[in-house]
Amino acid sequence: MKNYIPSLRIFLLAILALGVNYASAQTKNDAAKMNAFVTQLMSKMTLEEKIGQLNLVTMGRAITGSVVNSGVESRIKKGEIGGVFGVYGAADVAKIQDLAVKESRLHIPLIFGLDVIHGHRTIFPIPLGISATWDMGLIEQSAHIAAKEATAEGLNWVFSPMVDIARDPRWGRISEGSGEDPWYGSQVAKAMVKGYQGSSMTNSDAVMACVKHFALYGGAEAGREYNTVDMSLIRMYQDYLPPYKAALDAGAGSFMSSFNTVNGMPATVNKWLLTDLLRKQWGFKGFVVSDYTALNEVTDHGLGDLQTVSALALKAGLDMDMVGEGFLTTLKKSLKEGKVTQQEIDQACRRVLEAKYKLGLFNNPNKSIDPEREQRDVLTDDHRKFARTIAEHSFVLLKNSAQTLPLKKSGTIALVGPLANNHSEMLGTWVIAGDPEKSVSVMDGIKNIVGNNVNILYARGSNITDDSLLGVRAFALNNGQIKDKRSPKEMIDEAVETAKKADVVVAVVGESANMSGESSSRSDIRIPESQRDLLKALAKTGKPLVIVLFNGRPLTLTWEDEHASAILDAWAPGTEAGNAIADVLFGNYNPAGKITATFPRSVGQIPIYYNHKNTGRPYSGKGPAKFKSDYLDISNDPLYPFGYGLSYTTFNYSDVKLDKTTLKGNEILKATVTVTNTGKYSGEEVVQMYISDPVASISRSVKELKNYQKVTLQPGETKEVTFNITTNDLKFYNNELVYDWEPGQFIVQIGTNSSDTHTASVQWGK
Ligand code: BGC
Repeated sequence: MKNYIPSLRIFLLAILALGVNYASAQTKNDAAKMNAFVTQLMSKMTLEEKIGQLNLVTMGRAITGSVVNSGVESRIKKGEIGGVFGVYGAADVAKIQDLAVKESRLHIPLIFGLDVIHGHRTIFPIPLGISATWDMGLIEQSAHIAAKEATAEGLNWVFSPMVDIARDPRWGRISEGSGEDPWYGSQVAKAMVKGYQGSSMTNSDAVMACVKHFALYGGAEAGREYNTVDMSLIRMYQDYLPPYKAALDAGAGSFMSSFNTVNGMPATVNKWLLTDLLRKQWGFKGFVVSDYTALNEVTDHGLGDLQTVSALALKAGLDMDMVGEGFLTTLKKSLKEGKVTQQEIDQACRRVLEAKYKLGLFNNPNKSIDPEREQRDVLTDDHRKFARTIAEHSFVLLKNSAQTLPLKKSGTIALVGPLANNHSEMLGTWVIAGDPEKSVSVMDGIKNIVGNNVNILYARGSNITDDSLLGVRAFALNNGQIKDKRSPKEMIDEAVETAKKADVVVAVVGESANMSGESSSRSDIRIPESQRDLLKALAKTGKPLVIVLFNGRPLTLTWEDEHASAILDAWAPGTEAGNAIADVLFGNYNPAGKITATFPRSVGQIPIYYNHKNTGRPYSGKGPAKFKSDYLDISNDPLYPFGYGLSYTTFNYSDVKLDKTTLKGNEILKATVTVTNTGKYSGEEVVQMYISDPVASISRSVKELKNYQKVTLQPGETKEVTFNITTNDLKFYNNELVYDWEPGQFIVQIGTNSSDTHTASVQWGK
């Protein structure tokens, strides 16, 4: 047996090597076939047809901007259009695809894209909520189901995942991403790409992912939408770029450039970004599409007229122009005038055709269009069941004093708040195909769970907002908020009377779906005033007050944290909102979500994030001090730190045990804690591992998340959780932008959130 083992190992290694060689030969073979096919096709294409491939249009309705393309059908037949977005539904897509494949000269299929962001027909929580699950299996599955539903309706390209790191909750699009951490954001980015694209993009239930927005859109100054981004290279590489790179490494087929400037140069025409970094440094082989009319907007940035900026964009590495038709209307002229080359046009056209090839559209342009599938695979019971599960896992218990939650399934509950008996607000910021009528309200969800065992008294209590500016701007797309006819005082009085009759008050309050997302920056990130007034009146009744919070961003909740008995952050949970919320309120599921973006105490602390640097003159946090890095009027600490979230049970962490305290080179360090469930409920805990590098050649972040494990523990149960740490976990970008580690002391920190950790120190030499 002893002799047998090494030879078996050699045999297995040989098989593995053969497998690897076979796979890479296969890939080369596939690439050569694709190349030959596209070359052959392009040899037949006119200049106009090539430029047509670079043109992405919307049909009939503007999705996120004002320009809508016209004459699309006849232009498809002329070969002037490469892709369409905004159309879905098997029959509609098939009809339009037929125009291209049957009636255009070269029969080149169209690519069909849409903003499928957190589900297609079955809506899942907003991405910031999904990220709070810390469960890559669930995240990947959510993207897979979205792809399945989207392909059943003829789509083959989704404008997702959005992987922009955001440290500023004033920015409304923080809701569309995975928060502030580059390592964690990278895990989510990979899971989403895998879920969308599956094992092969030719599968009939797979779509091509489009990673957005490249790049650094989340760094917008002052959190104001579309604003300038100016950032050091070290910060970019260390803190903002990793998720884009991770999505690329996971095989993402396309990227979308961002609206913002990056150090003075708009991303849409930024050669450093789109070619030097994305293609040359990172090796991206897919295509890049602009954001909605972003090419035209380069004119607003001050870089010249449409012809000039279109030429700049093509030269920079932009391949497809979304909606604005700058490429379509100017490139021929620019070619004649020597402002772009034929090779540059060919290269962009090739990349778009390659994407269609990778999707299998040349073999079968209607590969996923099947009216039966459209009936069978969309908003199924299984998808709804999954939506309920992922929503439950996304909720974060921010406060739970005196074990107010879970609620008893008996007695009287006052259910109040403008979001308590509402369907449309359940779905969140990006819902193009989701049907609000199919969503479960909180009221319905509670009734589904407790039936007649609980007496439910309802009062609306307030409008979502009575602020004229916020109300008008936030509800601009819905033609205004539907307001109650009663005065604010009458509504509050009714709610207070209702509360007085109940054992506990459940207030469902927060932001409406359109207060976050694109074009929804806020300078005041509290719950709107009308609802705060309601909460204050409810608190005065002395009844236990449970807040179920809807929000697309971290909010400032200092008053709520002080006065509510419990706060359950539900984000915008999607189609199964009410059922999932009721499951958690009544203890059918014990919440385990952890926030992925810091909750500040006030907007004045923004930007605030856990992986900040040390300063000189650090403030100890105690007592009055002068000439320290602090504020006169508020603590430096956030209200809830990154990684924070409670459970109905409690967990106790042991000290961190390291298997070595000195290491060399590529050795592996094992760091272990034991975690014990010390409460009454079975529960899940996200055990987080951070590393600090106290002395280095540049100033490093105070700590960085490097790994986590989610464990389930029964009451009284203890588990050992071990992390294997390698020198990869120690690497950072130094002053020369070299990604490496430096020998010295490292501190391993393991705990329940980024500020509550146990630490152990190690010396690591080269
Ligand atoms: C958004 C993108 C979106 C595109 C198409 C833009 O305004 O920034 O995220 O994919 O519109 O709807």
